[in-house]
Amino acid sequence: MKVLVFAGSTRLASFNRKLAREVAAMARAGGAEVTHLELGDYDIPMYNADLEARGTPPDVMKLKQLFYEHPAWLICTPEYNASYPALLKNTLDWLSSPVKGDAVWNDDFRFSRGKVVGVLSASPGALGGLRSQSHLVPLLLNLHCWVAPQTYALGRAGSAFDADGHLVDEAAKTRAQSVVQQVLWAAGRLQQA
Ligand SMILES: Cc1cc2nc3c(=O)[nH]c(=O)nc-3n(C[C@H](O)[C@H](O)[C@H](O)COP(=O)(O)O)c2cc1C
Repeated sequence: MKVLVFAGSTRLASFNRKLAREVAAMARAGGAEVTHLELGDYDIPMYNADLEARGTPPDVMKLKQLFYEHPAWLICTPEYNASYPALLKNTLDWLSSPVKGDAVWNDDFRFSRGKVVGVLSASPGALGGLRSQSHLVPLLLNLHCWVAPQTYALGRAGSAFDADGHLVDEAAKTRAQSVVQQVLWAAGRLQQA
């Protein structure tokens, strides 16, 4: 199973990037072939239809292909103002915008249709970014993804990781692991169908 793991943050000491590293390791241990994507490695401008009319940026085209190649995704999202960050929205908006005149990529949801997606979040607050998930999930459903019912919001993220970036709390590991396991299981079942 090919799994794409990414966080909705580019911050150096990001809790969500740490969580993404942890779930990537869990997915690998579960037998998955993991691609750990760092959105900061891609040059994705703010979406603008006039800019797009001059040509879809090369890194958007690269990400469309990368997302398409992975039947399962694990997303770790920060919470900004009770929602998910502009970085995630902007990236997913670009990826879902059809490339006019392109026989392959003129399909909005080619990159996302049928993907099994696990949603996690991390925040220094007590709710762990739970409210970001309630906005991200409808966006993913609009993209024709199958969102795993099992989710995890890691609260008090400032004290959740050790110096090496590993989750310290066994219960947190178990909860994150349960999202990974459900995504791998469901993606496997959907691929058989
Ligand atoms: C503009 C802005 C809005 C925020 N709003 C929330 C919020 O609504 N709920 C919350 O738990 N944290 C909020 N935070 C704090 C983030 O959870 C915190 O900065 C977190 O570290 C971001 O995720 P990261 O560590 O993965 O970069 C906000 C941060 C910013 C910059």
